[in-house]
Amino acid sequence: MTTLFDLQGKTALITGASSGLGEQFARCLSGAGARVILAARRIDQLKTLAAELNNARAIQMDVSDKASVTSCFAELEQAGEKIDICVNSAGIAVLTPIFAEDDNDSFESIIQTNLMGVWYVTKAVANHMKNHSIHGSIINIASINGDAFPYKEATAYATSKAAVIHMAKSLVTELSRHQIRINSIAPGLFHTPMTDHKLGTDQQRQEFAEQIPMGFVATPKDLDGALLLLASNAHSSYITGSCITVDGGKSFGTSWGA
Ligand SMILES: NC(=O)c1ccc[n+]([C@@H]2O[C@H](COP(=O)([O-])OP(=O)(O)OC[C@H]3O[C@@H](n4cnc5c(N)ncnc54)[C@H](OP(=O)(O)O)[C@@H]3O)[C@@H](O)[C@H]2O)c1
Repeated sequence: MTTLFDLQGKTALITGASSGLGEQFARCLSGAGARVILAARRIDQLKTLAAELNNARAIQMDVSDKASVTSCFAELEQAGEKIDICVNSAGIAVLTPIFAEDDNDSFESIIQTNLMGVWYVTKAVANHMKNHSIHGSIINIASINGDAFPYKEATAYATSKAAVIHMAKSLVTELSRHQIRINSIAPGLFHTPMTDHKLGTDQQRQEFAEQIPMGFVATPKDLDGALLLLASNAHSSYITGSCITVDGGKSFGTSWGA
């Protein structure tokens, strides 16, 4: 079947594919015809998903560890994989209140995963695309926390997400001459394992829905449109350095009445 965003013949690497948004990104890109390479630390989850999807490969990668990223890309090169699309979805979220007595190094670990991890993967995949003359698309999964709507006590997280939005903008001139595009998506709050403590019950979802201008809590599939647009060279060949906000209007109002 031909779809509007047909990705047949393309290969997509998705980090953080073992859970939540990354899992849905893998399902969505696979559904559009792409071969998908699923990366995260929990290899069993990745293998289960790979077995379910068409034309998929699972690879164990710790994005916070440069050596792990380097060895994964060496393995993928060796296997002859050619990556056209890279979705940087791996991430962690922990509060880092400035007046906490002990933050257990969480500021550093968030930066190491959410910022350095995106840099390690982006550097590796950009070089891979350049070396193979691939006109690729790199998509950083940021957050409205890193743009218009920083949450209280989430400074490390917000800082890391602001940084990956700016990383994409900063790389535009270097990557464009190789016809590689790089963009970001800034989701609002989506119900995934990361946010289950906030959205796990009907009552919590209802309360949150009342604070969103569009009036409902989105599911990971609500990111499919932005993802497919940015992944598809045919539809977004002139879009690079952008950040698409997908938040039901949350950045611009806190309730229908506000
Ligand atoms: N859910 C939301 O409301 C929301 C909103 C805005 C932005 N985001 C962003 O969207 C992305 C996905 O979040 P999610 O909600 O899907 O969370 P999630 O369900 O907790 O998934 C996080 C994913 O990141 C992977 N990951 C974490 N650390 C990693 C590491 N060091 N190396 C490799 N993979 C790692 C996890 O896999 P392993 O544990 O198997 O490694 C998992 O697949 C994150 O970047 C998050 O900040 C989420």
